[in-house]
Amino acid sequence: MSLCGLDFGTSNSTVGVVIDQRATMVPLEKHPRTGALETTLPSALFFDFEGDNISFGRHAIEDYTRGDFGRLMRSMKSILGSRQMDDGTQIKNKLYTFNDIIGFFMQSLKQRAEQFSNQALESVVLGRPVHFNDHHPDLDAAAEARLSEIARAVGFKNISFQFEPIAAAYDYEQTVDREEIALIIDIGGGTSDFTLIKLSKANREKTDRQADLLANHGIHIGGTDFDRHLSLATVMPHFGLGVPYKDKPNLAMPIHYYVDLGTWHRIHSLYDPKVLRDLADLRLNMAQPDAIARLIQLLKQKDGHRLAGQVEQAKIDLADRQETQIDLSFLNRDSGSGDVLAHPVNRARLDAAIQSDVDRVFAAVAETLAQAGIGKGAINTIFTTGGSTALPSVRALIQSQFPDANWVSGDLFNSVGKGLVLEAQRRY
Ligand SMILES: Nc1ncnc2c1ncn2[C@@H]1O[C@H](COP(=O)(O)OP(=O)(O)OP(=O)(O)O)[C@@H](O)[C@H]1O
Ligand SMILES: [Mg+2]
Repeated sequence: MSLCGLDFGTSNSTVGVVIDQRATMVPLEKHPRTGALETTLPSALFFDFEGDNISFGRHAIEDYTRGDFGRLMRSMKSILGSRQMDDGTQIKNKLYTFNDIIGFFMQSLKQRAEQFSNQALESVVLGRPVHFNDHHPDLDAAAEARLSEIARAVGFKNISFQFEPIAAAYDYEQTVDREEIALIIDIGGGTSDFTLIKLSKANREKTDRQADLLANHGIHIGGTDFDRHLSLATVMPHFGLGVPYKDKPNLAMPIHYYVDLGTWHRIHSLYDPKVLRDLADLRLNMAQPDAIARLIQLLKQKDGHRLAGQVEQAKIDLADRQETQIDLSFLNRDSGSGDVLAHPVNRARLDAAIQSDVDRVFAAVAETLAQAGIGKGAINTIFTTGGSTALPSVRALIQSQFPDANWVSGDLFNSVGKGLVLEAQRRY
């Protein structure tokens, strides 16, 4: 059976195949340091300018972190559904479209899955968020069409889609033995998606689940937004955020540089030579030229992703401790004379930085219930998946909003992919 389910995630991707009639998650990568087989492939590519090859996943991040000369790309899914979808990016001396870049990544996922399952994969159910774009249905439709085009270009012949939280519901349904109403909460890297659905052992054989589906909703907020807001609230002032002009104390450095620097899929745009020239001019006019010099140095060293990675790591560390440090020692690796080595951050600071995002996510949860016209009391089970459901503030809100429901914490990173391959078995 040459079918698969493919969850192309903002941060992590997975592929499920069928082996001996069982849905199985493909070990996509050997961890470059521990050697462990991992079923997730971080959605990252590294274009190596010296060897002229492309590495993927943890290896891409490792190549970049080691300081190899090249370009890292992450969170490419965030481009889908945005107005930048048709833009390209110059890598070395070639202009690549985002179709090309996402295509390289999907091709690599497909090859890994084919190698593991020893078959050519022809049919795929691709996951998609409930909304690629919260406000523009035309961009949403274009994003799905784009992903479908890319899947065809890498050799899939039968291509269909399922909403990510519905896929997660099907994964959870494998363990359900009585009829229940479940609210699926999937908070990932780029989006938060919700499904309210009737699940039961008998229902899982049905091909048409329309009657079971009570509501489906999503919002374009996820872990990458939490990273940006934590970054703006902590480390960005070291790079000049908020620094006023020498002669205009009421006017500060343009904020868009910092928003882009804190946004995984925008970082590469700051490596444009024109940006560096503009910043060099600004430096002459700003009250704290050292901070702008630090920003210029960071961009020249192509360290934008490294900074974002340290901020993300601090966010993850704070899931199980109250305080940590955002490591900035890499800033000084050449000069050895830098001043800022680390920025302390605690959980309260993280919670404050992401509060408005988290409030919007939970407003979308309430909207999901409103769509179905049911109250919290009718929900039997909350099933959570997605890396950002590990956040303590998110967990506390789930607990306080649904104290009476049975809470099942699913696999943070594999539930959607597992549900997609179950759906592929049903469809093809
Ligand atoms: N322990 C943790 N605490 C907080 N956040 C975490 C933790 N572990 C991972 N994350 C965050 O989870 C996000 C990735 O989750 P996941 O892999 O589910 O997303 P994705 O499926 O790639 O994205 P999407 O479904 O939105 O396209 C990242 O933003 C990551 O920083
Ligand atoms: Mg996901």
